[in-house]
Amino acid sequence: IVATVIYLSQLPAVYDAVLKEQTEIAESKDEGEWLNWEDIQKMNYTWNVVCEVLRLQPPANETFREAITDFMYEGYLITKGTKLYVTVFSTHKNPEYFPDPHKFDPSRFEGQGPPPFSYVPFGGGPRMCPGKENARVQILVFIYNLVTRYKWEMVFPDEKMVADLVPYTTHGLPLHLFSRKS
Ligand code: HEM
Repeated sequence: IVATVIYLSQLPAVYDAVLKEQTEIAESKDEGEWLNWEDIQKMNYTWNVVCEVLRLQPPANETFREAITDFMYEGYLITKGTKLYVTVFSTHKNPEYFPDPHKFDPSRFEGQGPPPFSYVPFGGGPRMCPGKENARVQILVFIYNLVTRYKWEMVFPDEKMVADLVPYTTHGLPLHLFSRKS
């Protein structure tokens, strides 16, 4: 969510398209009516934006696996029991699957989207994150409420994400919030 707010702050065309999608949903609701599952399914562009944020700034930069058998990979013998470090961050920058990989382009997720295991913010295989759908709903509901109720400005407009074990912001992303009602 934090990284998404930064990208929305810095990419006005993307912000406008997210606001348009979310405003259409808000206008279809009665005063005080809660979002429902059908509304979440309409948030396709917003989710593509979040997916692109998760590609460029994956919250879990890495995961581990243990080889259950000997196998060859790129000329190296990987022996059974070896601990393998999977880097999500660099997997997501492979130009073979993500042309111009540093460009922010939510359309990468239209249609079929990236091929399996090229895009792994939630890991992959049997131990993939079981919270993915929960995270999706939480993020989309948060963005819906943020963009339809408020405008905002970053207190530190040049604030950056930095990565230690997990990415975080240098100043904690303070925002000036302005209610749309006032
Ligand atoms: C944007 C939000 C999230 C991201 C990016 C994320 C990412 C990940 C990643 C990369 C893994 C390791 C998967 C693997 O090794 O293949 C993982 C595992 C896991 N995640 Fe998430 N996660 C998120 C949200 C959540 C939420 C909301 C929950 C719970 C409601 C959750 C519960 C878990 C659990 C229990 C595991 C361990 C699964 C296992 O080892 O079998 N995650 N997550």
